[in-house]
Amino acid sequence: SFRGQITLDGPSGTGKSSVARGVAARLGAAYLDTGAMYRAATVAVLDAAVDPEDADAVARTVAAARIEVGTEAGTELVLVDGVDVAARIRGAEVTRNVSAVSAVPAVRRQLVEQQRALVAATEAVVVEGRDIGTVVLPDATLKVYLTAAPEVRAERRAGQLGITDPAEVAALAEDLRRRDEYDSSRADSPLRPAEDAVVVDSTDLDQQGVVDRIVELAASAV
Ligand code: C5P
Repeated sequence: SFRGQITLDGPSGTGKSSVARGVAARLGAAYLDTGAMYRAATVAVLDAAVDPEDADAVARTVAAARIEVGTEAGTELVLVDGVDVAARIRGAEVTRNVSAVSAVPAVRRQLVEQQRALVAATEAVVVEGRDIGTVVLPDATLKVYLTAAPEVRAERRAGQLGITDPAEVAALAEDLRRRDEYDSSRADSPLRPAEDAVVVDSTDLDQQGVVDRIVELAASAV
């Protein structure tokens, strides 16, 4: 059975989360969603009525918050100071502000340290995010960078959210573009493929096809 770490990075709307869960299930590995941690940190900032663009206040607020992620009986568990915020982290307000919060270096240092500790406690794990192969786990067993054409990403995200109105789909595409631009151009840990990452383009693959490909790569990586 697989032992080691698989990193799964890439922009929004590539189906990363579903793929990461699928790969983890196939390999009997743990799964860590680091985006959920940045989203939880954003909930803490919004609830404290702190301006997400005020880096010092954001850093202080997140430092004082206890952020926990995991799964319990198959459902996603996301806690801020012991309060379940899983239902809120995918909402529009959090999504709009998460890139600003996650661009703050002190926030990244705090959450990266937590991510490494969680990974160190596992024998096999799939870790999903933006900087996992480049920063969090530079010595991972297998690094995958998942991409897809922008139109395809917007359509998939719209499908997930049940949005069909063309104007709303277009607005969604613009949100994705803006968030990826922000994530790719930030100074600390920008979104980019690690030099030793395998780039998997999911434009013409369904979710099962991507999972199969990564499981195949994992088998030859160990
Ligand atoms: O993957 P998800 O869409 O939940 O990530 C939300 C946001 O969290 C990203 O747009 C990015 O700003 C931030 N993030 C990050 N580093 C990670 C994971 C997520 O900066 N490892």
